[in-house]
Parts: sequence; structure tokens; C-alpha cells
Amino acid sequence: MSFRGQVTLDGPSGTGKSSVARGVAARLGAAYLDTGAMYRAATVAVLDAGVDPEDADSVARTVAAARIEVGTGSATELVTVDGVDVAERIRGVEVTRTVSAVSAVPAVRRQLVDQQRALVAAADAVVVEGRDIGTVVLPDATLKVYLTAAPEARAQRRAGQLGITEPAEIAVLAADLRRRDEYDSSRADSPLRPAADAVVVDSTELDQQAVVERVVALAQSAVPAGERA
Ligand code: DC
Repeated sequence: MSFRGQVTLDGPSGTGKSSVARGVAARLGAAYLDTGAMYRAATVAVLDAGVDPEDADSVARTVAAARIEVGTGSATELVTVDGVDVAERIRGVEVTRTVSAVSAVPAVRRQLVDQQRALVAAADAVVVEGRDIGTVVLPDATLKVYLTAAPEARAQRRAGQLGITEPAEIAVLAADLRRRDEYDSSRADSPLRPAADAVVVDSTELDQQAVVERVVALAQSAVPAGERA
């Protein structure tokens, strides 16, 4: 039977979450929504407006005026700000360095959460990736997964993606991941944490395919919220 409903995939960065989410969406024939890409696109708008990322009011006003669009196909990445393709730019260092501050602004979160719920409502089956999807955005999701891994394993994975082999540089990546976790987990609005009813999957010792299989199996045996006894 084909899957219908929502799978939420939350957790810190560097766990292989995006690859897993895309893989699961492809296997389930579901749409895929990368909410981190939306916060990154909002950050592009803030950077281009020359606004101080720590000035919450200006950040909120700038993002409210920006038209942020993301695609929900699992094969291609479509991200635009005011009609301009920013799919590559959102992965750059400037955006990565600034996105935590932008995503901590409550008005920005409210705006993007509304947009995320509308995109999810339009899909029969969807995999949604982020930090607060199971806790805030979709509290009644069919299946909630929290993907985690040791910081060293996450730094190793990032290093592999970036072609870095120098141990000192990998240690810098691990420190940066810890700093971002700390920031994302301790912010007042929607901190990073597993939902009470999430299945926690630790990918430290698992390869990506094994994690995909695990999540697909969980999704196929999950019962939608409306049909639970
Ligand atoms: O998953 P990512 O690295 O693309 O996320 C970018 C940033 O956005 C990261 O600092 C956490 C934040 N984020 C968030 O606060 N809430 C989400 N649902 C998704 C991402």
C-alpha cells in the first residue's frame, strides 16, 4: 500500500538528514520539503538588504517583504527569493554563518511555519525536514523521526563532502557544529529537541542507506493521526 501522511525528520546539522529525507521521499513516492532551505533563503534576503542580522525588527520586516519559494520535488532543488534562483547561494559560507540569527527571530518563524503548513497541506504524502517540524510545525504528523549522531561523526561527514582531510580542520568543523547545536537548542522560540513521540535514530554507526531503510519501514507501519484508536 502506498504511504499517505507526513514524515517529519528533525535533528542537528551534519547527520545526513537531507540525504536521508530525500531518499525516504523517493522511496515512499512522497513530496519533500526542506525547511532549512527556507530559513537560508530568508537569510539571503536579509544579507541583500544590508540589514544587521542581529536587529530582529529589521530582519522580520525584510523577510516579510520577500517572496520565498521552495519546490517540493525530491529530485531537484528549487529555491527562489523574489523570483531569483538562490539554490547554490544558500549553501555558501555567508548564509551558513548568518542563518542561525535569522531563524531565531519569532516573526520570521511564524511566517515560514505558515508557509510550510500550506505546502504540506497540498501534498497527500510528504517528508518534511527541519528542527521543529515534529514539535511545532506538524504536531500530528504520521511519523516523527529525530536523527542524531556524535559531533565527531557529523564533522567527518561534512569534511568528506567538502574534501577536507586535515585533522585540525575537521576539529574546527566539529567545534562549529557544536556551536550551532548549542545556539539552535537554546534559543527561546522553537528550540531544537526531539518531540515526545519521536523515534530517535542515531546514525553514528549506520550508513545512509540503512537509515533510509529504517525510516521507510517505520513510515510503512505508521498509522495516520486521524485513524489512531
Ligand atoms: O538544516 P539547515 O542547516 O539547512 O538549516 C539551516 C538553519 O536553519 C539552521 O541554523 C537551523 C535553522 N532551521 C530552523 O531553525 N528550523 C527549521 N525548521 C529548519 C532549519
